[in-house]
Amino acid sequence: MSDRREPDAAVWWQHGVVYQVYPRSFRDANGDGIGDLAGVLEKIDYLSGTLGVDAIWLSPFYPSPMADFGYDVSDYCDVDPTFGDLATFDALVAAAHARGVRIIVDFVPGHTSNQHAWFQASRSSRDNPYRDWYVWRDPKPDGSPPNNWAATFGGSAWQRDDLTGQLYLHSYLPEQTDLNWRNPAVRAAMLDVLRFWLDRSVDGFRMDALGRIAKDPLLRDNPVNPEATGDFHKAMGDYDRQIHVNDQRHEDIHGYLAEMRTVLDRYEAADGRPRVAIGEIHIYDLSELGRYYGATLDELHLPFNFGLLKLPWAARAIRDHVDAYEASLPPGAWPNYVLGNHDEARIATRVGVGHARLAMLLLLTLRGTPTLYYADELGMEDVPVPPERAQDPWGMRVPGLNLSRDPERAPMPWTAQPNAGFCPPDVEPWLPIAPDLAQVNVETQLGDPRSMLSLTRQLLALRRASPALTRGSYRALDWPGLPDTCYLFVRENAEERLLVALNFGDDALEVALPDGLHATLLLSTRLDRPEAAIPGALALRPAEGIVARLA
Ligand code: GLC
Ligand code: CA
Repeated sequence: MSDRREPDAAVWWQHGVVYQVYPRSFRDANGDGIGDLAGVLEKIDYLSGTLGVDAIWLSPFYPSPMADFGYDVSDYCDVDPTFGDLATFDALVAAAHARGVRIIVDFVPGHTSNQHAWFQASRSSRDNPYRDWYVWRDPKPDGSPPNNWAATFGGSAWQRDDLTGQLYLHSYLPEQTDLNWRNPAVRAAMLDVLRFWLDRSVDGFRMDALGRIAKDPLLRDNPVNPEATGDFHKAMGDYDRQIHVNDQRHEDIHGYLAEMRTVLDRYEAADGRPRVAIGEIHIYDLSELGRYYGATLDELHLPFNFGLLKLPWAARAIRDHVDAYEASLPPGAWPNYVLGNHDEARIATRVGVGHARLAMLLLLTLRGTPTLYYADELGMEDVPVPPERAQDPWGMRVPGLNLSRDPERAPMPWTAQPNAGFCPPDVEPWLPIAPDLAQVNVETQLGDPRSMLSLTRQLLALRRASPALTRGSYRALDWPGLPDTCYLFVRENAEERLLVALNFGDDALEVALPDGLHATLLLSTRLDRPEAAIPGALALRPAEGIVARLA
């Protein structure tokens, strides 16, 4: 349990809600079956007005051979023609800013595409000035790779290049060549990339796969993992057969993060507009995660908290996580929560459509910044992709473990029309359209006052208008006899006190409120109860969550 005082002046990335757009899948404006930036621009009023989110995080739209759908960047300072051009990007930023919505871009610091000019130069000869921008080593005398490091996407992390007879390091695909962050010229170039986008008025960065920017300088083997189960939240095959202590998160990472943060802080100091550094780093040990805010809060503003991805969907487990997370935060550090993204099975598939509403209520009422994945506001489920339409290289390289991320990347359903209003009806979208299109689409759900979209809109509106939800403290309630399936917490500031109650069970619950707790219902996940005083006991239906005002 923790009870924290409200920060003096909460900034947008603290009180706001971040919405992740995967541009390939959001809206195809030019009719080639692939989403684009003009498509995001078309939908800006949906995001800012209809839904009411505060910031849009755009997954990569940079020039790329698309081996990993944009996470293999061949030019950090441009837009891939598939997605548009810099003028469209600028127009999107202007349209968002005109509506008070911030733009966060994805920054992929750990690796480039093997087609990037830097890597092309680097591989050309052993003495090319760019050679040391990447990690090259001779094979061992027996011809095997320099060490045992495994790539996340299967196989060895080393790839032989016949041109010079050496091997280069790749933490993901062989087409995603790891940059050598120990080379100051690389770090300087990457800071210039940050400046390029800051000069185009972006409000922050989501920094990709950060753990990989700092590795053991001696490139020592990873120890073998006798358990053969990783500490990641999903089984990853051979990758789990080693303990990943040397191929990522070397202590030097903290210095690198501070260098990046300094760039953002200078822009913020110059024009007074707060910028945000959000970091993707998969750490489930909470005290370790806390270190990525920086010893003096000089690193990431928000190291993504992926804790909710790993937990069973159960009241106790989640309450324990939230309490432990709150208690683990360094003084002044701001919490955040994630229920899904382009790498994870969708929440409605993980917990079931009925519980997706409860999950949305949880995400939008906890203390801290929520990141909402596109179409989760509709309760969209994963879309099965037949093998002949598979796209994700991870699923294809490590078969049999359900690692494909295609199902959570299906096109956003805007209407019930063929191709969902995502692309023209006569064009094949890059991934299949969801089969439950008739109910799960924006247009239909906007017309239904009890739809998941209506719930999400109401929750976002409630959150925006509530100082307790955006800035107030968090305190879990517990007492002997409180049912195991019930999670209760209070959000409170000087102006208001709210009670959030969640029934994680599939049975109805009756929870007697402690004497003196007088509550008025504000919102139920079922959207079918009027605002009303709650008598001495709280009646929660299966998988129902509520927000109530406390007297
Ligand atoms: C991050 C991204 C993922 C990508 C990987 C390599 O985990 O979220 O989509 O494949 O990094 O860049
Ligand atoms: Ca397109």
